[in-house]
Amino acid sequence: MTNKPLLSVRDARVGFTTVRGVVRAVDGVSFELAEGRTLGIVGESGSGKSVLVRSLIGLVSATTGVEVEGQVVFEGRDLRKLSPADFRRVLGSEIGIVFQDPMTSLNPVTKIGRQIGEGLRLNRGLDRAAADRRAVELLSEVGIPEPERRARQYPHELSGGMRQRVAIAIAIACAPKLLIADEPTTALDVTVQRQILDLLQREQRQRGMAMILITHDLGVAASRADDIMVMYAGRAVEAASTREIFRTPRMPYTEALLRSLPRLSDRTHTRLTAIPGRPPDLARRTGGCAFAPRCSYRTERCDAEQPMLTREGGHGFSCFHPLANGA
Ligand SMILES: Nc1ncnc2c1ncn2[C@@H]1O[C@H](COP(=O)(O)OP(=O)(O)OP(=O)(O)O)[C@@H](O)[C@H]1O
Ligand SMILES: [Mg+2]
Repeated sequence: MTNKPLLSVRDARVGFTTVRGVVRAVDGVSFELAEGRTLGIVGESGSGKSVLVRSLIGLVSATTGVEVEGQVVFEGRDLRKLSPADFRRVLGSEIGIVFQDPMTSLNPVTKIGRQIGEGLRLNRGLDRAAADRRAVELLSEVGIPEPERRARQYPHELSGGMRQRVAIAIAIACAPKLLIADEPTTALDVTVQRQILDLLQREQRQRGMAMILITHDLGVAASRADDIMVMYAGRAVEAASTREIFRTPRMPYTEALLRSLPRLSDRTHTRLTAIPGRPPDLARRTGGCAFAPRCSYRTERCDAEQPMLTREGGHGFSCFHPLANGA
C-alpha cells in the first residue's frame, strides 16, 4: 500500500431501526484502498457487504430510521463533510458503480446511448453530440457489437450480459478513480460471468482505477482481487493480501469459507459445502464473537468477549484462537 490511500474508511457503522430493534448491519469496519488496487469483499449473504459500500456513497435507504457513522476519506476529502452538490460531483465523476442487476440501475425509458452520455454532459461539460459520440465509443470499448445501432436501443432490447456491459460503460464514462462493483455477475450465466469479470479487470488495469469487488464467491476474489476483506455479521473479521488469505488464513471463519470452495480437481465434489449453522441475528448482539456458535475452536472466552481486529504485519484478523501462521 502506498502512504496515501485513495480511499480510507474508519469505523463505518450502519444501524437500521426496525420493529425488532436496531439491526447493526455494519458494525465498525475500517479499511484502506490504494490507487489502482482491487479489494475483494467476501462473506456470506447478509454479512453487510452491500450496506457497507452503499453507505460510503450515501446510498443506504431505509423504510424507517437509519444511522450511518464513520469517516470516509476519498482523495483526501472527507466525503461526509462535503456539501450535497460537491458530494454529487464526486459520485458522478470520480466513483463508478456497477450493481448486481443492471435492470435496476438502467433507466428503462431512455435510450442506451443517452444514458451513457448523461454523466459526460453533467460532469464533464460535453454537448449532446459529443456525448453521443463518446457513448458509441464506450459501447464499443465494453465489447458491444454494432455500437451505433445499440446506442439507439432501450435496455429491454439487450440481453442481461449486454445490459451489464452498458452499466459498466456508464460507470467508467467519466473516468472514475474508483469502481465499485457489487456482485456484478451474480445475475448472469456462468459463461457471461467470466466475460464481464474479464472486462471489468481489463478496464480497471488499463485505466488504473481502484476497484472494490463484492462477491460471495471466494474463487472470483482469488483471481481478481489484490487484497481481500472477509466480512461476518457486519464486521471485517480478516483482511490481508489475496495470497496471504489463501495461504495462511488466520480466522476460522475464513478457513471454513476456503474449505467450502469447490475443488476443480475433485469432480465428485463440485458442489459448495456450506458452513454448518447460520449467521447470527444482527438485531440481537451478544457480547462475544459472532462466529462462535459455528466455530470448532470456540471456548468460553469467545462467548464472553468480542475479539478485536489484531494486526500482524499487513494481515488483520479478529479471533482469540487464530490458526497458526504458516499452517
Ligand atoms: N433497509 C434495511 N432495513 C433493515 N435491515 C436491512 C436493510 N438493508 C439491509 N438490511 C440488513 O442488513 C444486513 C446486511 O445486508 P447486506 O445487503 O449488506 O448483506 P450482503 O452481505 O450484501 O448480502 P448478499 O450477499 O446477500 O448481497 C442484512 O441482515 C440485511 O437484512
Ligand atoms: Mg449484497
